[in-house]
Amino acid sequence: MIEARNLKKSFKGKAVLEDASFCIGDGEFVGFYGPSGIGKSTAARMLCGLVRPDVGEVLLDGKLIASPGTQYDRKAGLGIQMVFQQPHAALDPVQKLGSAFRELARARFPGISREKEDSLIESSLAEAGLSSGILARLPSQISGGEAQRVCIARCLMLSPRLLILDEATSMLDVSTQANVMGAVTRAARARGGSILLISHDRALIERVCQRIYLFEGGRTVEEGTETVNCS
Ligand SMILES: Nc1ncnc2c1ncn2[C@@H]1O[C@H](COP(=O)(O)OP(=O)(O)O)[C@@H](O)[C@H]1O
Ligand SMILES: [Mg+2]
Repeated sequence: MIEARNLKKSFKGKAVLEDASFCIGDGEFVGFYGPSGIGKSTAARMLCGLVRPDVGEVLLDGKLIASPGTQYDRKAGLGIQMVFQQPHAALDPVQKLGSAFRELARARFPGISREKEDSLIESSLAEAGLSSGILARLPSQISGGEAQRVCIARCLMLSPRLLILDEATSMLDVSTQANVMGAVTRAARARGGSILLISHDRALIERVCQRIYLFEGGRTVEEGTETVNCS
């Protein structure tokens, strides 16, 4: 589904990615593993059009969506959703969570009835281990772990083709993390969606992912199984 070829990126003259290539097939769970600061988030952000590569290209279903000379294809990119490392940064500080969820549900399913909207929001929250009481709160009134689960619940509601989780459960205790990851992987499996799990937690990645890309010196090394065809 997604293929990234020979990505290169420098910030202020300092090379972060030198030659990173990876692919993610439909329904595949893939991991990015490596130490902090190695460029994992940068590579993932390129898939969402948040960072433009200096060299290289990203193809979605064989169609170019990102390269040095391309305007990111936002419409094509809608099927790619990312949960960020800093969950509060992704939440509007002056909007109550309930209103944010409703807006999102209506944008995703135009014309949805109020009843369906309520049940969709409630079930997404429940999958992320939250109760609907949280909807009355502002982002400043929830903890980091709750904010991570809110961001995951939003993505579960949107059911993207590719869900990118960038250290997205780092603030959760071990058992909550296991529950949330269970819900996320079940939801992805049920609709044939793919997951890109980014973490420095090797055990977590090994539990969830079929293939792992190790980030090392600006390059990606594929680990584990035989090379697959991701087209
Ligand atoms: N927008 C940016 N401007 C300047 N430097 C950045 C920017 N984004 C990332 N970096 C730098 O690039 C390096 C890799 O960052 P990142 O991709 O977040 O690594 P990782 O996700 O593997 O921890 C870090 O040194 C970081 O400070
Ligand atoms: Mg990162």
